[in-house]
Amino acid sequence: MIPSQRALFDLPREVTYFNAAYMGPMPKLAAQAGADSYAKKQQPWRFNVQEDFFDVPETFRSQAAQLYGSTGDDIAIVPAASYGLATAALNLVPDEGTDILVLDEQFPSNIYVWRTLGQACGARVKTVSRSDNQSWTEAMLGAISPRTSIVACPQVHWADGGMLDLPAVSEAARMQGAALVLDLTQSLGVLPFDLHAIQPDFAVSACYKWLLGPYTLGALYVDLQHQSGEALEENWIVRDRAEDFARLVDYADDYAVGARRFDMGERSGFQLVPAANACLAQILDWGPDKISQTLLAKTTAIAEAVAPLGLRDSTPDRAPHYLCLSLPDTAPADLVKRLGARDIHVSQRGDRLRVTPHLYNDETDTDRFVDALKAELL
Ligand SMILES: Cc1ncc(COP(=O)(O)O)c(C=O)c1O
Repeated sequence: MIPSQRALFDLPREVTYFNAAYMGPMPKLAAQAGADSYAKKQQPWRFNVQEDFFDVPETFRSQAAQLYGSTGDDIAIVPAASYGLATAALNLVPDEGTDILVLDEQFPSNIYVWRTLGQACGARVKTVSRSDNQSWTEAMLGAISPRTSIVACPQVHWADGGMLDLPAVSEAARMQGAALVLDLTQSLGVLPFDLHAIQPDFAVSACYKWLLGPYTLGALYVDLQHQSGEALEENWIVRDRAEDFARLVDYADDYAVGARRFDMGERSGFQLVPAANACLAQILDWGPDKISQTLLAKTTAIAEAVAPLGLRDSTPDRAPHYLCLSLPDTAPADLVKRLGARDIHVSQRGDRLRVTPHLYNDETDTDRFVDALKAELL
């Protein structure tokens, strides 16, 4: 169990922040790394080409790779989950008449891209729904068929917190020759990811939620079989010999090795990558295994504390870091706003209250949440 890490964050005692699934607060050290890079931008002569343009992004790549269980060569630096998913779609060609499987109410970044691809290729986007007591895994395994060409899903459903057994989904997809594309934005860094068992074709995560990092940065894993594929951009810095700024017009045909060809333009992201590196170093130091165990204890304690007030978590196979609570009929429609006015920050997704703590939350937060709910509901 990891003790409360609140001191590492700029969280006033009178604020209860249970909303990492919306936006993770950046640790103070990482914010300082970002501020340092802005200070350098005021004095550009301090930039070091090798370090700032190449080495710092390589650190990001290798740290993100550790979360995926891959090597840095398999990681591309992207601005958003949608960018990684668009890269996947550009490199997959579903046969006409086949199905691209997605989950009901899946996050839109992992929907629109498949609708467009499906229209272009004559494939159908098929939505997999689950019944109340069914897990997403059961629903997905029931839907995978010989018609399936692509399974595009998360590890954890963003709105109900249901977790998928990805090794099982992957095995079923592979048996049908289907590709597996994952959006791990609601799980990477807080759930262990078993690359060997899951073997996705592509997997992506934005940095700004559970990775506690800056907005507009993400890490895309690309399986070896796709690493000579087509990139969304023809980015000069991922070509051979890009380190030699004096000779960039000796245009190069070859790309840097691995998934680097899929990097976004200006991937060195001086204002983003150093801060993200500090966040990833912190997450790796805690370790996703211990983080998930600790967050399971926190969400379990919260669920037990609010159950007497009529709030219930009924999602089968809920993820350890997620609580999606159905509300009693008497709950006011603007409950989230009312809680916000008491400096208790949660989200509402559909008709459920989404409560997503991280390591900075402690028992005082749970007590404040319960007291506020009592005041608003009883
Ligand atoms: C599951 C999931 N994927 C992706 C995102 C963010 O997508 P993007 O990085 O494309 O803006 C979110 C944001 O809420 C999300 O919940």
